Amino acid sequence: MIPNCLPQGEVYHASEELGKEAHVPSFQKYKELYLKSVDNPEEFWGDIAKEFYWKSKHRGQFLDYNFDVTKGKIYIKCMEGATTNICYNVLDRNVKERKHGDKIAFLWEGNEPGDEMKITYRELLLQVCKFANVLRSQGVKKGDCVSIYMPMIVELVVAMLACARIGAVHSIVFAGFSAESLCERITDSNCALLITADGFYRGDKLINLKLIADEALLKCKEKNLPVKKCIVIKHLCKEEVSWDRSSCSSQSPPTKRVCHSVQQEKLGEKVKKVCPKPQVPWNPDVDLCWHKLMQDASEECDPEWCDSEDPLFVLYTSGSTGKPKGVLHTVGGYLLYTAATFKYVFDYQPDDVYWCTADIGWITGHSYITYGPLANGATSVLFEGLPTYPDVSRLWEIVDKYKVTKFYTAPTAIRLLMKFGSEPVQKYRRKSLKILGTVGEPINPEAWLWYYNIVGEKRCPIVDTFWQTETGGHVMTPLPAATPMKPGSATFPFFGVVPAILNESGEELEGEAEGYLVFKQPWPGVMRTVYGNHQRFETTYFKKFPGYYVTGDGCKRDKDGYYWITGRIDDMLNVSGHLLSTAEVESALVEHSAVAEAAVVSHPHDVKGECLYCFVTLKDGQEYTEALEAGLRKQVREKIGPIATPDYIQNAPGLPKTRSGKIMRRVLRKIARNDKDLGDISTLADPTVIEQLFNSRCVL
Ligand code: WT7
Repeated sequence: MIPNCLPQGEVYHASEELGKEAHVPSFQKYKELYLKSVDNPEEFWGDIAKEFYWKSKHRGQFLDYNFDVTKGKIYIKCMEGATTNICYNVLDRNVKERKHGDKIAFLWEGNEPGDEMKITYRELLLQVCKFANVLRSQGVKKGDCVSIYMPMIVELVVAMLACARIGAVHSIVFAGFSAESLCERITDSNCALLITADGFYRGDKLINLKLIADEALLKCKEKNLPVKKCIVIKHLCKEEVSWDRSSCSSQSPPTKRVCHSVQQEKLGEKVKKVCPKPQVPWNPDVDLCWHKLMQDASEECDPEWCDSEDPLFVLYTSGSTGKPKGVLHTVGGYLLYTAATFKYVFDYQPDDVYWCTADIGWITGHSYITYGPLANGATSVLFEGLPTYPDVSRLWEIVDKYKVTKFYTAPTAIRLLMKFGSEPVQKYRRKSLKILGTVGEPINPEAWLWYYNIVGEKRCPIVDTFWQTETGGHVMTPLPAATPMKPGSATFPFFGVVPAILNESGEELEGEAEGYLVFKQPWPGVMRTVYGNHQRFETTYFKKFPGYYVTGDGCKRDKDGYYWITGRIDDMLNVSGHLLSTAEVESALVEHSAVAEAAVVSHPHDVKGECLYCFVTLKDGQEYTEALEAGLRKQVREKIGPIATPDYIQNAPGLPKTRSGKIMRRVLRKIARNDKDLGDISTLADPTVIEQLFNSRCVL
């Protein structure tokens, strides 16, 4: 499956220099390790497991599974029976066994330049122990689910690791989601406790997080699933608490929050920008102050020993039927897999300064800001801000400031910055950079080459990592010193991963081919179930092609054996590297009182990758106005969050449907693109709607 001879021509190689210190220095070595990982997973993963602490050994098979729905229930178990604690492994082990206590775990860089702090492994452990005691004192027990809705601050990591320490299951909700989405996630996972913050700034925009959280809690109450307690950290209003973060860092000054005073030239006079404080309503029956609780908490906290197969976290991802799915990951396999992928894919070295720009609210942050890097004892940058604030050089300024060696971001960020040309990049030296990475969606070769030539100055290999919330970690990816790169290809499988390409009838295709990307056997980090709905897990990923895990992505294999992900083949769209389902957006639209029916399709977008093009049919007697359109946009933002804001909304008095009443989204996609080549429309019930829709397209 992996080729014997490598391609000639348009491929890019890492420098020999990089190969000298790399964990996997050649393609030959990659192949050897790969073969071992699939022929003898027990030995391969067993070696990795040896680096971690296990309170007791596993019984039975190392990786036990059924991937075939026709043979019974789908299950995946890794090291079942072994007991461990992931928080112990990523913190205590580094401090106590590896003597990394004084090593910096996170270099926190706030939204405002100048707002910064650092925290060592020892200090992080201390904070986590204290907060774990806080959670215990609030009655949180092993197996309980805790919701976390926080900005990108160190306390977010503290909160998640504290859950892991006591065997509680964290459910992090991205702080860009709306009250409705937060409520839906809290109730689905039955969380009795929420952890949030007063607010934060995204660029110059204040997000009143506590207000949104309160709205969500009200909705939960209406559903008769009340959240009992809400712990609130004062991030923006910290002067109001008698607490400073000097207790978390002996080496660095306490965090200062500076308000970036942008001098704006306005009508000749200088206007100083003011940064308002968030509104923080307080409900004494529910709300608890993080700082107060921490002051009284003990610094000693024994970890809860968990089974390798105990749940670690739930993270919601969009599903093609609308309702988000709670993807569940377990302790042992996730630890092994995030640790190993981090080490090999970023070729982690002890003196690295690593930076992943993702938000911890997505899987990328879970695996490659928190668990993978900490499992390796790495030093990471944790960035609260935006690539464009206060200007479009921010990322490169931070790279120079901390001498970042490994940098991981998304194609959407690259395309955004590319628009501003190379000058903002070249203002900074970026000499420290060694390896670059991307994730979230297929990267177009043009963006790949800009990243490679301009950002990395042809010196840094790019790891184009294909994976999903469900896969826990990278599954298709180059290894930086071993795999010759082709711009736009995620290249080959990671260790333990066995891909195949299937045609519509489920036959495996060999050689050059295009079809459905599936995996034939599990790897330790694959999801175990959909929280509270195992049947949905089986139907979504295993039913279409029995015996395989179905990714939902299309894929091409070229003559050299390289894999190229071609994008989603279901009703999902990928906006800025995050999946949304058309059904989710449609249901938000039809909840509007004026809307009878809605159909949403993806439309290409030069920065976001894809954006939303919505067709709405109004109820009789309703008139389509600008105000209505603005109301519809607001509706979607409120129901889902800003990421789902429609770019285009078209008034559609009729929708193309089959005679059996199914909306033909394939046809709508063509209309949105103004592509008259509609293919077979013989099943269309009323052909006259087509012309009508073409004539009233949105101006793009
Ligand atoms: C979907 C998963 C994994 C973290 C971020 C997104 C697309 C992701 C790549 C890549 C081509 C990619 C796929 C996948 N995707 N990485 N390197 N090349 N496509 O997580 O929200 O679970 O989305 O993102 O379509 O199925 P997610």
